[in-house]
Amino acid sequence: MTEISIQKTTRPGTMPDEDKLGFGTYFTDHMFVMDYQTGKGWHSPRIVPYEEFCLFPSAMVYHYGQAIFEGMKAFKTHDDRLVVFRTRDYLQRFNRSADILCIPNTDVDQVQEGLFKLLELDKRFLPGKLGTSIYIRPFIIATDPFVGVKSSDTYRLFIILSPSGTYYAQGFNPVGIRVEDKYVRAVPGGIGEAKTPGNYAASLRAQVEAKHEGYAQVLWLDGVERKYIEEVGTMNIFFKINDELITPELNGSILGGITRRTVLELAREWGMNVSERKISIDEVFAAAENGTLQEAFGSGTAAVISPVGELSWKGKKIIINNNQTGPTAQKLFDEVAGTQYGTLPDKHGWVSTVTKL
Ligand code: COI
Repeated sequence: MTEISIQKTTRPGTMPDEDKLGFGTYFTDHMFVMDYQTGKGWHSPRIVPYEEFCLFPSAMVYHYGQAIFEGMKAFKTHDDRLVVFRTRDYLQRFNRSADILCIPNTDVDQVQEGLFKLLELDKRFLPGKLGTSIYIRPFIIATDPFVGVKSSDTYRLFIILSPSGTYYAQGFNPVGIRVEDKYVRAVPGGIGEAKTPGNYAASLRAQVEAKHEGYAQVLWLDGVERKYIEEVGTMNIFFKINDELITPELNGSILGGITRRTVLELAREWGMNVSERKISIDEVFAAAENGTLQEAFGSGTAAVISPVGELSWKGKKIIINNNQTGPTAQKLFDEVAGTQYGTLPDKHGWVSTVTKL
C-alpha cells in the first residue's frame, strides 16, 4: 500500500471547552486526503493541515452534486484509549453509496489506515465526557472542471474530524418530531439509500417548516402512498407496539444505518420480538389511541439512541410514554454507549483501539 505522507500544521489550534462543543462546529488541525483519476486509481494518500482548498468553479460537484459522505465516531474510553466503533461497516457502506453515485470504490484497509493515522496525530482533540466524541466525516467529491452532465473522471476524498457533543440540543431527552405529509425525501429506484448530499438538500424545506412549528426533526413517509414510515433523515426510527420492536424494512429509499443494525442485533440477542417490516403512520397513531404504543426512538451515529416524545401528523398530536425515555431506549443507549466508552465489554468486536492516550 502507498505510504501516507504527513505534513504537520504550523498553526495548531486550541481544544474548545468540552461543555460547549455542540455538534459539527469545531475541527482538528489535520485532514486525510486522497485523489482519484481514471486510469490511475486512488493515489497520493496524505495527511495535511485542515484548511481551505482550491477547486475550479466548474468542478462538477458544485453543479450536479456527485458526492457521498459518511459519519462515524471516535471515543475516549475510561481507561484512556482512543477507540472507533464499527469502522469497517461504515467504510463498506461508503462504497455502497459510491456505487449508487457512480463514484469509484475505495480500499477499506487504505482508508482505515489513513483515518487511524489522522486520529493518532490529532488525538489531543478527543473529548472525554459521556455524549462527546470526535465525529469523523469522510467524504468524496467529483472534481472534473466540466459543466456537462456525466460522472466525473477525477475525485478527491477527505476525512475531517470534529470534536463534538450531542447532536440534539436536548441531549438524550425525548425530541418532538413532525410527520411530513407534503414533501417526500426519496422514492424506490432513487438514491434514498445513499449517503449523498442530495438527500439532505431534499430534506431542508420540510425541516425549516418543522423547526418553525417547534419540532426538532421530520419523519418521512414513503414517496408513493405517503402512508408507510421511512426514516427521520438524521436517524432511523423504531416503535415498540405491544412488545414488538418494529423498524421499517430497508427498501432502497431508506438509509441502512449502522446504529440501526446495532440496535437490531442487540434486541434480537436480548430475545425481543423484533420486526423489520412496513409500518404505516395510521398503525402508529392507532396504537397510541388504543394504548399499545409503548415507545418510539431514533437511532443514528450522530443521534445515537434518541427517544421520541411527541409526533405530530396532519394537526393531530400524540405523546409517547409521557414524553419520557422508555426502558428499551434506555437499555439500548446504555449498552451502545457502554461499549463505545469502554465501561462494558466489547462482546461483538465492534470497537477498534487506535491508540493509547
Ligand atoms: C450521522 O448520524 O452520522 C449522520 O450522517 C446524520 C447527520 C449528521 C447528517
